[in-house]
Amino acid sequence: MSQSDSAAFIAGYPLKAHNTFGFDVRAQLACRIEHESQLMTAVRDARAAGLPCLVLGGGSNVVLTGDFAGLVLLVALRGRRVVREDADAWYVEAAGGEPWHEFVAWTLSQGISGLENLALIPGTVGAAPIQNIGAYGVEMCEHFASLHAVELATGDVHEFDADACRFGYRDSVFKREGRDRFVITSVTFRLPKRWQPRAGYADLARELAVRAESIDEPTNEPTNEPTAQAIFDAVVAVRRAKLPDPLELGNAGSFFKNPVIDAAQFAALKEREPEVVSYAQSDGRMKLAAGWLIDRSDWKGRAMGAAAVHERQALVLVNRGGASGAEMLALAKAIQADVLARFGVELEAEPVCL
Ligand code: EPU
Repeated sequence: MSQSDSAAFIAGYPLKAHNTFGFDVRAQLACRIEHESQLMTAVRDARAAGLPCLVLGGGSNVVLTGDFAGLVLLVALRGRRVVREDADAWYVEAAGGEPWHEFVAWTLSQGISGLENLALIPGTVGAAPIQNIGAYGVEMCEHFASLHAVELATGDVHEFDADACRFGYRDSVFKREGRDRFVITSVTFRLPKRWQPRAGYADLARELAVRAESIDEPTNEPTNEPTAQAIFDAVVAVRRAKLPDPLELGNAGSFFKNPVIDAAQFAALKEREPEVVSYAQSDGRMKLAAGWLIDRSDWKGRAMGAAAVHERQALVLVNRGGASGAEMLALAKAIQADVLARFGVELEAEPVCL
């Protein structure tokens, strides 16, 4: 066995720095996975000891409600490369442990565009497909080609194409039947050479307009289309203005999904609440802005102990310091109950609760 085949197991490992809420819980055992071979060995050893495994990348989409009685696999697989290109697209592969934002910035530095709207999303590349991350008019699945995942029960490596991932809005097979079954070790993206800016999302369009106005030398040219770098910079600015930095204020991004309701329920709601913020779906249903529903239920900025609703974006729950996962879930429950009572709409949590 070469040295890289086994990773050291650490007992009583603190997970505070491994979940973006900053919950102070521990793993019975943890090990850092830097090579795929270490993953196989660790999983086999955990199986032999009868211990369940929990995979953590950036810990940006998880609510840890207590200590984990098992082995936590800290996925630190690194590496990114252009695997191939054809006339139409680049195919870029990144290891599961690559920080997502750094990966996006790197693609742009290589002259490869397409992921710029997804700048500054916390977490790792391997976590991105699990909930099909999305922001400012783009979802990851649009640029997804395939991924490799190791099955925990067998150690077998599987390749998943987009169909096999069954992507939906903040959803994939890895949140359903595949939950707790796989470690995503690498993801390949297809980034078309014919690039089109996606700058229609209201907050982003506003930020781009402000930036275009502040450019010193106005030209008489018709408005220039933004570059991918300009979109990247604008997305970073919008996110910094609205969403708390997990390093400063623990959070997991949007805590709830934007709920989708049928046309009849929407018509009745709109009658009662004419200002409700909604987006028509292609199947005739309506997606509602959960942030608006929570805001209108007077939860914005409110707290239950150290678990609070963010002051600038009601969809984000934050840990003001020392909150537990259970306290965060209690806050979430109270919000869900109020939104249901007032609007008749159920909110579903976006992060995985353990
Ligand atoms: N709104 C309020 N009050 C609030 C927050 C929002 O009235 O406190 C209203 C806004 O005025 C706006 C609407 O709700 O009209 C939508 O708000 P926003 O544009 O901020 O987006 P969102 O629907 O709240 C979604 C994603 C975010 C993503 C943004 C931008 C989900 C669950 N959330 O938020 O994703 O960054 O759009 O695309 O789909 C994440 O998933 O963790 C995440 C941050």
